[in-house]
Amino acid sequence: MASLKTISFLFLVLILISDSSTALGKRIRDRNKPCKRLVVYFHDILFTGKNAQNSTSATVGAPAWGNKTALANPFRYGDLVAFDDPITLDKNLHSTPVGRAQGFYLYTSKSTLAAWFSVSFVFNSTEHKGSINFAGNEYVLQNTRDISITGGTGDFFMARGIASLMTDAYEKTDYFRLRVDIKLYECW
Ligand SMILES: *[C@@H]1O[C@H](CO)[C@@H](O)[C@H](O)[C@H]1NC(C)=O
Ligand SMILES: *[C@@H]1O[C@H](CO)[C@@H](O)[C@H](O)[C@H]1NC(C)=O
Ligand SMILES: *[C@@H]1O[C@H](CO)[C@@H](O)[C@H](O)[C@H]1NC(C)=O
Repeated sequence: MASLKTISFLFLVLILISDSSTALGKRIRDRNKPCKRLVVYFHDILFTGKNAQNSTSATVGAPAWGNKTALANPFRYGDLVAFDDPITLDKNLHSTPVGRAQGFYLYTSKSTLAAWFSVSFVFNSTEHKGSINFAGNEYVLQNTRDISITGGTGDFFMARGIASLMTDAYEKTDYFRLRVDIKLYECW
């Protein structure tokens, strides 16, 4: 019956091990299952020289051969755009925003449309308060692009994960809407 003792001891050890991660308040789940998922849209209206009233983004830097109201050639390479975009839960630009996407993107390629995003989603709704921070390069012409979620505050304290971006609408040069599928793989 010594083996019974051994077995119950092993059981106890197992319970302690499996509990230690939750005891720290941290939840790391397996790779394939986000511990939190949230789909939102953000709307960007680029300042093109005439729409100061409703624009939500502006080119703040351009290469020497361009300027701040025209898109640089080729592929906007070198343009730096600052933005303060509304975030909504549906596709409607005029829905009540749940927060703001605030940051910048820098066009990074001379051979395709690519943009480095550095942005905080600042949530301020009854459901969510806090921010999620994103960083990464995205190849705009691909259907789905993943960028890193590097951290968060408030309801998203210490968040880490992946955001899958899809262009949901693109109208002329002055309006685009991105669908952002936020998948957190670390939640506290
Ligand atoms: C922004 O305002 C301009 C001028 O009033 C208008 O033509 C344009 O459609 C508006 N853009 C969006 C995305 O609502
Ligand atoms: C910016 O460049 C575009 C394209 O070369 C030109 O049409 C426009 O007049 C320029 N705007 C300013 C403010 O210089
Ligand atoms: C959040 O929303 C409330 C209510 O609309 C507002 O009073 C407050 O200033 C907002 N906070 C931020 C950080 O935007």
